[in-house]
Amino acid sequence: MSAGPSSSPQYSNPVVRWIEYRMPIFSTLDNFVGGSYPTPRNLSYWWNFGSLAGIALTLQILTGIVLAMHYTPHVDFAFASVEHIMRDVNFGWLLRYAHANGASMFFIVVYIHIFRGLYYGSYKAPRELLWMIGVVILILMMATAFMGYVLPWGQMSFWGATVITNLFSAIPLVGEGIVTWLWGGYAVDNPTLNRFYSLHFLMPFLIAGVVVFHIIALHQFGSNNPLGIDKKSPKDSIPFHPYYTIKDLFGLAVFFLVFAGFVFYFPNMLGHPDNYIEANPLSTPAHIVPEWYFLPFYAILRAITFDIWFLPAKLIGVILMFGSILVLFFLPWLDTSPVRSARFRPLYKIFFWVLLADCFMLGYLGSQTPEGSRAVFALIGTLYYFFHFLILLPLLGKLETPKPLPASISEPVLRTPLASPAE
Ligand code: HEM
Repeated sequence: MSAGPSSSPQYSNPVVRWIEYRMPIFSTLDNFVGGSYPTPRNLSYWWNFGSLAGIALTLQILTGIVLAMHYTPHVDFAFASVEHIMRDVNFGWLLRYAHANGASMFFIVVYIHIFRGLYYGSYKAPRELLWMIGVVILILMMATAFMGYVLPWGQMSFWGATVITNLFSAIPLVGEGIVTWLWGGYAVDNPTLNRFYSLHFLMPFLIAGVVVFHIIALHQFGSNNPLGIDKKSPKDSIPFHPYYTIKDLFGLAVFFLVFAGFVFYFPNMLGHPDNYIEANPLSTPAHIVPEWYFLPFYAILRAITFDIWFLPAKLIGVILMFGSILVLFFLPWLDTSPVRSARFRPLYKIFFWVLLADCFMLGYLGSQTPEGSRAVFALIGTLYYFFHFLILLPLLGKLETPKPLPASISEPVLRTPLASPAE
């Protein structure tokens, strides 16, 4: 007969000890959220954005659950039910504005999180899987946000859904069938709204599940850091608590200030006014634009205006748009440089900023009609995006001479007169 666990971590509280002995939930959680877990001592504020993304996800789930209590997923009532939330439900306006702007905050935070990873080479070995799980999260977030935007059943909801779901019709042979299957009929209509509602409710929980894997993978090797070098001695680390719990809390306070600024002062700034007009399948808006966080991808989708060989322009656009995210899965192998942090990669550092500028340019172009010079710039911006990942990164790793790396994480930090006399 088994004698039970031979040892479990010691906790001073007897109730905690009693539970821990029978179910090691506290040590598991301790392991999961940080606790005493050794963290590089030099993490900057760019390392706040992972925990902020977790908070943003939690807020979306909480506000979403309460919104769902008052929302009606039917084409005849959806628009009115959102107005009912805004006007009649106690603090309904706050819930809705927090949820709508919360989605934008979530994307801001996650985009910063991703570009931090790009700058400091956090996707490189041994964190490839951590990065790839992140890309899965990004795709799930995009699908969730896209379906959520359909729910208020405004003009942009309806026409955005129509344009984007229609993209699948570009796939040869099976495309039309896929679109009908997605719609649940022959147009975006009540069955579409119903299934989008159901999936929009489900997917954040799926994301939360994938985040658990993200954190498990993170804790396998611990965080990367601004120097991009591995921890070598105990002096390179400090305990997560209290150092980074306090730093994360400070970041959270700043996050809430910005969030509150949007919710209370500019609640509709990031939205489109046409979405306050109820969906009308007989009246197409002059310009159909997605939410700001999809704009660079929208520009890529529309960048190709001519057929190439037997491939129609629309199909190429769809391939490029999905390709622009899928290429991120291969990034750990496309970047051939052994050095992680851009601090020690003089050329990569420049191209990092060029890529960021390219994404901003594509974002701007996605918000404009694709005519004249704008169409040309969208094409250049799209080509550059793929050039960066597929050609530049593999070559840079071979051609660039990195700067010398510090001997350890603690060396540049502790190299002061206060450094331990024992050294
Ligand atoms: C719901 C969304 C996400 C949540 C809650 C989340 C959470 C976290 C947390 C808590 C950390 C540790 C703290 C930090 O390094 O900032 C982290 C690290 C990391 N995340 Fe995410 N993440 C999300 C999305 C993503 C995405 C979309 C990617 C990439 C495509 C990504 C890639 C990474 C990488 C590479 C690290 C390690 C960074 C390092 O140690 O330098 N994450 N994530």
